[in-house]
Amino acid sequence: MDFFYKIIDNFDQLKYALLDAQTFDPDHYGFPEIYYKVMETDKERVGAYIRAFEQYDMMKDAVVCEAGIGTLALTKHYLPYVKKAYLIENNPNLTEFIQAELEKNGWADKVEFIVGDAMKIQLPEPVDYVIGELMSIYCANEYQVQIFKHLRQFLKPDGKLIPERIVNLAQVGRAEFDQGHKHYPLLFTRHWPELLSTQEVVNVIDLYKEEKLDVAFDTELKVHLSGTANCILMHSLIELKDGVNFTGTDSLMPPTLCQLKQAKNIRRGDTLQLSSRYQYGSSLDEAVFELK
Ligand SMILES: C[S@@+](CC[C@H](N)C(=O)[O-])C[C@H]1O[C@@H](n2cnc3c(N)ncnc32)[C@H](O)[C@@H]1O
Repeated sequence: MDFFYKIIDNFDQLKYALLDAQTFDPDHYGFPEIYYKVMETDKERVGAYIRAFEQYDMMKDAVVCEAGIGTLALTKHYLPYVKKAYLIENNPNLTEFIQAELEKNGWADKVEFIVGDAMKIQLPEPVDYVIGELMSIYCANEYQVQIFKHLRQFLKPDGKLIPERIVNLAQVGRAEFDQGHKHYPLLFTRHWPELLSTQEVVNVIDLYKEEKLDVAFDTELKVHLSGTANCILMHSLIELKDGVNFTGTDSLMPPTLCQLKQAKNIRRGDTLQLSSRYQYGSSLDEAVFELK
């Protein structure tokens, strides 16, 4: 209970804690250490991947490639079963840890560990599975789309990507943004926006086919409540494989608020046109969401 009191006393200071933890940090060649902890401890996120592996019979005797292995939070669940794994990670701070784990568990012989950029790596053979969790809401901040676009050339004709599809949704609302913050992922429900419209699909990313890296979509929303809209609430729903989904927690694709280019007064019953313009793997701070 004491612990809960402490959280309550610090709710407002924690409003941007998740944003800070998930923001690319050049001093650490990537994510701050705390974010790996956030990811590893999230049973919902790791469990969804495990369910997908189970449905593929733990990829028994398969050849796999995983991009962005981090601290092996997903990898260690399938590695005992596969025949061969190409594991890619570009954060040099993790190299020693990963090598030690591979040796300790007797996996080193069947693993080719590649320290480098998954968008540039050439694989020496076709693979049965390409796995990756390099996701951020709408794929706006991380390179999931670019990395799978590059690695899928090495997939066997009947090979599988994990994940396969991402559905991005938006809903218009009103929220308080502090100076210097254009977007933030939600950690506590009290920082949710006042929700004013229906939630609609902005775009669907088919990771087997996505070619374009520029997103430009117009979406129609209906207004439930009159008010001043100044942001969208973003959700990304991930299909790891047909029937195995992950729909966002604090550690991956948390529902996120992003300011509209301009606030707009809207009326119950109105129909709105939301224009969304951004690039995969850039920054939500550069994305433009606008009510026409
Ligand atoms: C969101 S974390 C996921 C880590 C791990 N797969 C897990 O699920 O816990 C993404 C990881 O991908 C790595 N990464 C990001 N971009 C990369 C790239 N272009 N090539 C290789 N690794 C990359 C990051 O350093 C980070 O460790």
